[in-house]
Amino acid sequence: MGILEHVSLKKYNTFGIDASARFFMEVRSLEELRRVFMEKALAGKRHLVLGGGSNVLFTGDFDGLVLRMCNKGKQVVERKTDSLVLKVEAGEDWDALVAWCVDQGWGGLENLSLIPGQAGTSPMQNIGAYGVELKDVFHSLEAFEKKTGQVRVFGPADCRFGYRDSYFKREGRDLFVITSVCLKLSIGLHRVNTSYGALSHELKALGFENPGIQEIRKAVMAIRQKKLPDPAILGNAGSFFKNPVVSLETFRRLQKAHPGLVAFPDQAGMKLAAGWLIEQAGWKGYRKGDAGVHEHQALVLVNHGNATGEEIAALGMAVKASVFEQFAVELEPEVNII
Ligand code: FAD
Ligand code: EPU
Repeated sequence: MGILEHVSLKKYNTFGIDASARFFMEVRSLEELRRVFMEKALAGKRHLVLGGGSNVLFTGDFDGLVLRMCNKGKQVVERKTDSLVLKVEAGEDWDALVAWCVDQGWGGLENLSLIPGQAGTSPMQNIGAYGVELKDVFHSLEAFEKKTGQVRVFGPADCRFGYRDSYFKREGRDLFVITSVCLKLSIGLHRVNTSYGALSHELKALGFENPGIQEIRKAVMAIRQKKLPDPAILGNAGSFFKNPVVSLETFRRLQKAHPGLVAFPDQAGMKLAAGWLIEQAGWKGYRKGDAGVHEHQALVLVNHGNATGEEIAALGMAVKASVFEQFAVELEPEVNII
């Protein structure tokens, strides 16, 4: 088993934070995972399961074992005339998977184009974008239970998906390693989702009148490339906070005081655009040292070069405090702070 020591995590997190791991291992199979947890390789050490590192912020060195998921493979496990179930190993790159499915003519993932990270992480926060969430295509997943060494199968109800939320982020946190995900995709006759305002607008601008899955992917990529910083150029982890969901009563009170408030209906009330709140609080484009707030998307904190995780986290706290002071709305981080 290849356990390395004192490994820089800079290239393993999209914030580009130069933290280091005391121990580091690439996990290529279930057998390797089992050996780590069953054969005392951990021996009381802290550990962290890492995918693509696009939703973590390291606030210091990690004094334990980082297990980077590297298991690969895709397999059609069920096929009907109009749909199929694709099993994907956790270490597969998410956007390469989306591109491949669209090329095969399989529908369902196209709205989730260009989200960084791995397939195995997609259920953790029920990734979502442009009107679609993972739960809409989710069939099941397999997860290794750390305590027993058993592999358990989770169906949609077991995962308790919510907005940027799942069982694995709450009660199941740190108990399991997701080893594969099964996705239900359409063949031939796709029900494309163009309900998200910015997406329908972009489709029109690109001249796509009856868009198929290829066109949706192109439009989503175009929007994302305009709005979101590319981590290869500017370190970031996407939205730093979730969009807060408030009651209708709170929404009405806020709207009265701030007529420009941007909000969308949600099952539990109204979802406020955190980017708008942060921009109104004066943070858009702010920079202190190398830690900053993105100039085009205030919900994204960025590393202009050599910011430390502590500096980014401190900026996040200052943004949260100022939004609370101005709007009495509590922002909750989406990024996993480690
Ligand atoms: P990591 O950052 O490696 O891990 C995230 C968390 O999951 C950690 O707590 C880790 O311990 C745990 N974990 C990872 N893999 C496993 C596993 N196999 N088993 C158990 N636990 C595991 N997210 C969206 O939902 N929608 C977006 O539109 C979106 N846009 C983004 C744009 C940019 C530019 C960036 C940088 C990020 C964006 N994100 C978005 C956030 C991020 O891409 C997703 O959350 C992604 O699913 C994280 O995957 P990852 O493999 O990089 O996870
Ligand atoms: N807005 C501002 N100022 C800003 C940013 C946004 O006023 O600086 C307002 C605008 O009115 C805009 C609205 O907020 O129309 C919504 O912005 P956007 O469409 O960019 O989406 P978002 O709510 O900021 C969410 C997700 C993204 C996802 C997009 C598209 C969360 C926390 N973020 O962002 O996910 O890609 O919608 O669906 O839900 C992520 O999770 O990391 C992520 C990038």
